Amino acid sequence: MYLGIDLGTSGLKAMLVDELFEVVGVAQAPLTVSRAQPGWSEQAPDDWIAAAETAIGALRRTHPAAMARVQAIGLSGQMHGATLLDRGDAVLRPCILWNDGRSAAQCATLTGRADFHGIAGNLVMAGFTAPKLLWVAEHEPALFARVTKILLPKDYLRLWLTGEHVSDMSDAAGTLWLDVGRRAWSAELLSATGLSRDHMPALVEGSDVSGRLRADLAARWGMGRVPVAGGGGDNAATACGMGVMAPGTAFLSLGTSGVLFAATDRFAPNTAEAVHAFCHALPETWHQMGVILSATDSMRWLSEIVRMPVPDLAALVPDEVPAPSPVGFLPYLSGERTPLNDPDAAGAFLNLRRGHGLPEMVQAVMEGVAMAFADCLHALRKAGTGIEAAYAVGGGAQSEAWLRIIAAATGLTLLVPEDGDYGAAFGAARLAAACATGDRSDRIFSRPRLRATFRPDPRLADAYEDKYRSYRRAWPALKAITP
Ligand code: XUL
Repeated sequence: MYLGIDLGTSGLKAMLVDELFEVVGVAQAPLTVSRAQPGWSEQAPDDWIAAAETAIGALRRTHPAAMARVQAIGLSGQMHGATLLDRGDAVLRPCILWNDGRSAAQCATLTGRADFHGIAGNLVMAGFTAPKLLWVAEHEPALFARVTKILLPKDYLRLWLTGEHVSDMSDAAGTLWLDVGRRAWSAELLSATGLSRDHMPALVEGSDVSGRLRADLAARWGMGRVPVAGGGGDNAATACGMGVMAPGTAFLSLGTSGVLFAATDRFAPNTAEAVHAFCHALPETWHQMGVILSATDSMRWLSEIVRMPVPDLAALVPDEVPAPSPVGFLPYLSGERTPLNDPDAAGAFLNLRRGHGLPEMVQAVMEGVAMAFADCLHALRKAGTGIEAAYAVGGGAQSEAWLRIIAAATGLTLLVPEDGDYGAAFGAARLAAACATGDRSDRIFSRPRLRATFRPDPRLADAYEDKYRSYRRAWPALKAITP
């Protein structure tokens, strides 16, 4: 039995998985985000521990025999958050999360100070950890002076579980302090942020042992002092859950934000188009990602405005659209990462006419998100990553119309897994299994069976190519007149 724990932004999930990777039990606890000022996004690390106590405590009550048989724990979590600790490991301030945009000015400063593009392989973007620390240094200097260790969210949970300061390569790559090609902390990038190697946790691979469960927690949960695996950032862990490990394999996640994730066997950055080039969770593996900030969130935004539930809105679009909507949509409601790297990019409906109604607008929203995925695919291709197919996951993947539109607009074949939970908690449980058994093969990281396959419809290809060309031209034109 293995225990996977995923510390998400809106909740923590704990999952018990047996030796055949059947899910035995799941428990969740919600989390909230505090937004004290526009653009800020913070969580109290104590809340993560309380959520873990709730979820693991629930599994202990409902599945005591299975808990007693757990052989290893795997961790996954929201990436990039800055958890700042003092000499005694006390938390100095609320964690500044991945979707906090306050550090835009610090990004420009850091970019000029060191070779972040070459060493970290990524643009300095406000979502990542390093610019957040420069913001703290500039705005909270007394607090910055007391910072002794900086941990990513799931690694703070690990400190509580094991007493060890450790991170894994996939999550560490999102700090901008990692030499991603060498899989080691970079003294140059740390010193550009006023930090040193001492501020960083030790590094392990996702399938390695990072520590052992503390005796008091083991006793409380009726478990042994089992190893805790390195685990992974939530995207790498999700990939582990679907066996997206080998070059050419990929997943497309249609969640609040959208992710196009491709596994690679080398470090191959494309900073010009804001491709994320990170370590994967197994040794000698890497991955690339295009990240769009408002995917299903664009649909939720429209549903709030027209006061109709998202499924009712989605039902306005036929499963097989005969042609693109005449209306255009730019999904930059929260700015955009890939390929624009522009926190100030703004959303727009285009080409509205008196005869257009909600169905045209809903289809336009689906198509705008599809175009943003097409942008991600082109950015990954320019970084040398060729993918033809991707597993489609996330809430938006429930909509057949949306999947068909994305397939037609990107040219990707979308593979929909059989019903089941292949998310980050499941991937974390697989990393626990790899840690306990030493097996890193396809036996553990197998691919899901498919429920459906959506191939690009050749009848729509030309029309969507035209629409994509207009989409590409729209934001540069609008930017000039956007305040
Ligand atoms: C990845 C990213 C998000 C978070 C969400 O770069 O910022 O996917 O990991 O949890």
